[in-house]
Amino acid sequence: MKKLIVVLAGLAVIVWGMFFFMNRQPQTPEPVDQIPIEEPDTGEIESPVLADDSTLPIPPLLEDTDPSPDRAEFRIIAQNGTKEFVPGVQTDTMGYNGNYLGPVIRTRRGEDVAINIENRINGEMTTIHWHGLEVGGEDDGGPHSGIQPGETWTPEFTIDQPAATLWYHPHPESNTGRQVYKGLAGLFIIDDEVSDSLDIPKEYGINDIPLVIQDKRFREDGTFEYILGGPDIMFGIQGNVILANGEIEPYLNVEKGLMRFRILNGSNATIFELGLDNDQSFHQIASDGGFLEEPVEMNRLVLGPSERAEILIDFSDYEDGEIVRLANQDWSIMEFVVDGGRENDLSVPVTLAEIDRLDPQDASRTREFVFLGMGPNVNINGKQFDMDRIDEVVSLGDTEIWVVSNQSGMGMMGGTVHPFHAHGTQFQILDLNGNPPAANETGWKDSFVVYPGETVRAIATFKKTGVFMYHCHILEHEDAGMMGQFVVE
Ligand code: C2O
Ligand code: CU
Ligand code: CU
Repeated sequence: MKKLIVVLAGLAVIVWGMFFFMNRQPQTPEPVDQIPIEEPDTGEIESPVLADDSTLPIPPLLEDTDPSPDRAEFRIIAQNGTKEFVPGVQTDTMGYNGNYLGPVIRTRRGEDVAINIENRINGEMTTIHWHGLEVGGEDDGGPHSGIQPGETWTPEFTIDQPAATLWYHPHPESNTGRQVYKGLAGLFIIDDEVSDSLDIPKEYGINDIPLVIQDKRFREDGTFEYILGGPDIMFGIQGNVILANGEIEPYLNVEKGLMRFRILNGSNATIFELGLDNDQSFHQIASDGGFLEEPVEMNRLVLGPSERAEILIDFSDYEDGEIVRLANQDWSIMEFVVDGGRENDLSVPVTLAEIDRLDPQDASRTREFVFLGMGPNVNINGKQFDMDRIDEVVSLGDTEIWVVSNQSGMGMMGGTVHPFHAHGTQFQILDLNGNPPAANETGWKDSFVVYPGETVRAIATFKKTGVFMYHCHILEHEDAGMMGQFVVE
């Protein structure tokens, strides 16, 4: 009986989704005006709220309370809050050490790190996962590492990977989407000798700027809430407003010179296509797991949920006071205002880092992961998440090829996009439908978008023991069960 209800509910959602599909492309957001949402009395605001002249907030660097240079100790409190996104209106939020988002945790390769995480969220369990970090399963913060309200969890690990911009966010079973949407997320930066030696902008908050981009669905009253309607269950929740570091259309004064941005797509479900409004090109220098071998010039950067990119934008040819906008397609996210009084003469480096190429010949085996199903039935290889079931067993130290294909909703007017992510390691993409990856996807990746009908082959070495997750990083899909577990032993 229960099964029947689930199937019927699934069918209803699919039918709804079909109608929805005829009207919109789900992969990119537009100002939303007619998505039906399960809301008692408020509708949607009609267009993104206009900028209120706020500057881009720069998240603070979290204080390391351990005086020793080789060890760092941090303290994080997950808490409830309220935030005024729209002037005069308070939205209920969650944050780390504050009301929305969290501080930046900055560490060095080789450093021993201990982090105390206290859960002060009212009546809600949480976990904290270090997305992209190569640590053992015990310290990874997946669904098994629940922190009950009032409790503190203290993982300890050694940073053992190249310089990169990673991030952290909650990962409780079936409640990740909501907690992230409410504001729980922060960046996690690793430095090393390579990042030290590169001649690129390095002054945090001055010319090296963290940028967490997220979309939210604001209601007419100027607040947002995590309430899922049928289309959200199908495609994940998509917004009508884009936030940069938690602010609607802020501005940032930039140096007349080279600026570095560490961008995280912190959305629950939306794929961004970022560019400058004047179509000026820029250079990507790092992907999820660290620097590329050389900068890649582009004028559009596609970032799926949870993916990161570091880019360099050259503002040296602008006049004092000139404005350039960062946009998602034609939708302005924020403004850069060139400050002629601050100049730098840095230039884009020719080479960045050496990347040891993993050789498919060294792979001990190939595993297949197939995204299937739609709405509440989304799954991987025919299975939905079960905390008590290990789906794959990997031998410690092995290199493997993971073949991820998206056959979900095929034939149903285009299917659904799924970004794949696995914990505890970093991948190199071998090919997509047999074709080599784009130049900016040839570095270390922990997440990659798999479009309907596409097959991506990626290779990784599994260097840490324990239980880890692999899943779709559309958080509504993850929460619905599009997730599995592998153990490295
Ligand atoms: Cu961003 Cu399972 O993680
Ligand atoms: Cu992760
Ligand atoms: Cu998905």
